[in-house]
Amino acid sequence: MSLFSLCTAALAIPALARPGQHDRNAPIISPRQQPDANNATNWPWRPLPWGEVNFLHTTDTHGFLEGHLNEVDYGADWGDFVSFVERMRDKADEHNVDLLVVDTGDLVTGNGLSDKSKTPGEVSNKLFRNVDYDLLTTGNNDLYFDYITKQVQTDIAEYYGDHYLTTNLDVDFNDGHGPISIGKRYRYFTTKHGLRVLALGFTLQDFQRPDFITVHNASTVWNSDWFKEAISNEVDLYVLLGHTDINARCDLTGTSQYNATETPMICMKDWLRKNKPDVPLQIFGGHTHIRNFRCYDGAASGLESGRYADTVGWLALRDVASDAWNGSKTIEDVPMATRTCSSPTSSNTMVDPTTAVRLDRRYLDFNRKTFAYHAIGNESDAVDKLDTPHGQKTTGDIYNARVQLNLTGVLGCAPQSYYIFAESCNCPSSIYTMVRFALNTTVKPDGKVKPQDSPRLIIMGTGGIRYDLFKGPFSVGDAFTVSPYNDTFLYLPDVPYTAAKGVLCALKKDDYCETEDPVGPCDMPGLASSTFAYDSFSLQQPLLHHAATEIKLNPGHVTTDDFGNCSKAVNSTDCGDDTQHKPLIDKYKPPKYLQSQGNIDPKNTKTVDLVFTNHLQEKILNLTVIKDLGYKASDVDYYMPPTFTTRDFLQEYARVEWNEKAKECPVGP
Ligand SMILES: *[C@@H]1O[C@H](CO)[C@@H](O)[C@H](O)[C@H]1NC(C)=O
Ligand SMILES: *[C@@H]1O[C@H](CO)[C@@H](O)[C@H](O)[C@H]1NC(C)=O
Ligand SMILES: *[C@@H]1O[C@H](CO)[C@@H](O)[C@H](O)[C@H]1NC(C)=O
Ligand SMILES: *[C@@H]1O[C@H](CO)[C@@H](O)[C@H](O)[C@H]1NC(C)=O
Ligand SMILES: *[C@@H]1O[C@H](CO)[C@@H](O)[C@H](O)[C@H]1NC(C)=O
Ligand SMILES: *[C@@H]1O[C@H](CO)[C@@H](O)[C@H](O)[C@H]1NC(C)=O
Ligand SMILES: *[C@@H]1O[C@H](CO)[C@@H](O)[C@H](O)[C@H]1NC(C)=O
Ligand SMILES: *[C@@H]1O[C@H](CO)[C@@H](O)[C@H](O)[C@H]1NC(C)=O
Ligand SMILES: *[C@@H]1O[C@H](CO)[C@@H](O)[C@H](O)[C@H]1NC(C)=O
Ligand SMILES: *[C@@H]1O[C@H](CO)[C@@H](O)[C@H](O)[C@H]1NC(C)=O
Ligand SMILES: *[C@@H]1O[C@H](CO)[C@@H](O)[C@H](O)[C@H]1NC(C)=O
Repeated sequence: MSLFSLCTAALAIPALARPGQHDRNAPIISPRQQPDANNATNWPWRPLPWGEVNFLHTTDTHGFLEGHLNEVDYGADWGDFVSFVERMRDKADEHNVDLLVVDTGDLVTGNGLSDKSKTPGEVSNKLFRNVDYDLLTTGNNDLYFDYITKQVQTDIAEYYGDHYLTTNLDVDFNDGHGPISIGKRYRYFTTKHGLRVLALGFTLQDFQRPDFITVHNASTVWNSDWFKEAISNEVDLYVLLGHTDINARCDLTGTSQYNATETPMICMKDWLRKNKPDVPLQIFGGHTHIRNFRCYDGAASGLESGRYADTVGWLALRDVASDAWNGSKTIEDVPMATRTCSSPTSSNTMVDPTTAVRLDRRYLDFNRKTFAYHAIGNESDAVDKLDTPHGQKTTGDIYNARVQLNLTGVLGCAPQSYYIFAESCNCPSSIYTMVRFALNTTVKPDGKVKPQDSPRLIIMGTGGIRYDLFKGPFSVGDAFTVSPYNDTFLYLPDVPYTAAKGVLCALKKDDYCETEDPVGPCDMPGLASSTFAYDSFSLQQPLLHHAATEIKLNPGHVTTDDFGNCSKAVNSTDCGDDTQHKPLIDKYKPPKYLQSQGNIDPKNTKTVDLVFTNHLQEKILNLTVIKDLGYKASDVDYYMPPTFTTRDFLQEYARVEWNEKAKECPVGP
């Protein structure tokens, strides 16, 4: 079989399954999580602290509504979350307190469910909105292309009406109607029990803003007439949503990557603390993909709740309600929040609030055990009692959408997990090591013009690899999540090997270029360890192979925030993580480019085909080492058929290398 026909086979996805049927061994859809997901093994170990007003927070879901199928602690899907929210609303009613559910944006980019449809979000937005959010706002990934923003406008902003907040964002779709606000500037409302809330939703400035949007400064907001009217209302609590790092500073001049002058949400927080110090303020942030809680002062704090639907943030506030509030200030039989943000950690907020708030926070793992434990109880059949009809229907709809988008087909069994940031780039568990093997195996001629095993040097940018690849059944959807771009493979024929072998270093211009391929020491030093140096939405969740404490812990978030450091003890009462995990560390910064050498003998090979993704063409032709040889754009040709892209090589590799018909294909770290 020629390689080209193999490629065609790679793209022919198993026949469309009927709704409710899936193409692995058990063809029955269970009324709970996705049928191919795994159950969490560990329970949370303590109940949630409650307050007068309580929040559930999601952020940066990026289309991960199917859950994380090969990760044990994050296996719930969006339907399970729908059930959880509904049960928790009942629970809040039972306790006679308020519950608000909020999201801080980035609905697309990262998962096939959101990105494989004709317009990203077209399918996933309608699944997302099964949760009856009280407040939402926009993320930068919802704003890079006007067609994505239009989809958000019709599916989300119009659907949620006055709950969808775009306080400082204008868009101009160039249709003669702009600039407009796709959501509402603010929401002033009264909760079930009479808490008066003024909510605002902020977009950050520090990203590659496309021309059709304007992200206003906070001063534009507080000088506007609508704001003067909003701020004149009697308020018990300000709620600021923002797709924004809760640690960011207000003033960004001189430090911004994208000409931003400020972080509008933080500037607004500072303004409100100065001008309305007696009204408590709560921030919900996002964008940096971490779990975090930050005390600003005794009556102002911020929460950030993970990424990719791996976390639900919980926040409980006490002492914020007025006398008119008619809920219960104490609840029997459940813990109440007792912490305070007494010592300000921010020097730019010199507030001495007359109000101090008692509060607490918790980061919940996105799995059914967690949801059942908190919404139902700790009895052995709690998990079976979690589902609501709406949640079950959502689970079914997600499954059908996955089938329709051809994401469910299993290509093989990944024998181990491969990490982006957890492993040095030459180690066996580095995803780039695996990618180099996969390129060598799948990117080669069909044998008609050139022999299949022609000497070739394949170069790819590491930025195209977007997510860790986890041990277990590897599906078309997983392939899409790990390598979502559709770059073609191009080449320059018969490049002298002596020149070709210099290309990687010329591209990378870093100290480690020589060590990368083909073997390189596995223990070479990491380039950098600061997680914030990375492009925020490529932050992953890598693991560190630590000895487990007594109970068998799964790898996952281990969080340090202003109320506690889980790295000291995951079972400390100060730790915010709801389930105990083995620690994760974003340890290595991968090099920008990698290469794979096919059939090259460094001593004897004279010429090679220099293969690269179309994304790199301009850069490579511009390198002195290539320019000096006289190569021009007209010398570049397709190495693989244009239908075979960076979306396909992992699928092909899995089919060839991992397609053992293993009866068992366990997940695991
Ligand atoms: C997960 O647990 C449920 C019971 O709550 C069970 O029916 C199901 O088979 C389990 N799934 C796996 C993959 O073990
Ligand atoms: C509590 O207050 C809310 C808002 O003012 C009101 O709608 C509700 O009827 C009150 N409930 C009771 C039990 O008084
Ligand atoms: C925000 O303020 C800066 C500095 O004053 C100004 O240069 C910029 O144009 C303002 N941006 C907007 C969107 O108003
Ligand atoms: C920042 O502003 C400078 C000068 O106006 C401009 O050349 C540059 O392209 C801008 N960069 C971004 C990322 O907007
Ligand atoms: C279950 O919850 C009850 C009441 O909340 C508590 O007394 C009991 O210790 C809990 N059992 C376990 C195993 O956590
Ligand atoms: C899914 O696969 C079917 C059959 O191969 C094809 O007709 C359909 O266009 C595919 N859909 C998507 C969204 O790729
Ligand atoms: C890659 O995707 C983009 C956007 O969907 C599309 O315009 C382009 O034609 C695709 N390229 C290939 C080679 O499939
Ligand atoms: C958290 O604890 C770990 C382990 O004791 C320590 O290395 C780390 O510096 C602490 N982090 C902070 C922010 O205190
Ligand atoms: C936490 O775990 C350690 C080690 O297993 C144990 O010694 C300690 O007593 C535990 N602390 C709490 C508060 O449970
Ligand atoms: C690359 O693939 C060839 C077969 O085409 C194989 O002989 C060689 O060992 C592979 N090299 C690496 C580094 O995987
Ligand atoms: C081409 O190379 C020159 C000189 O090395 C550099 O200044 C320029 O930015 C490069 N252009 C591209 C598109 O890489």
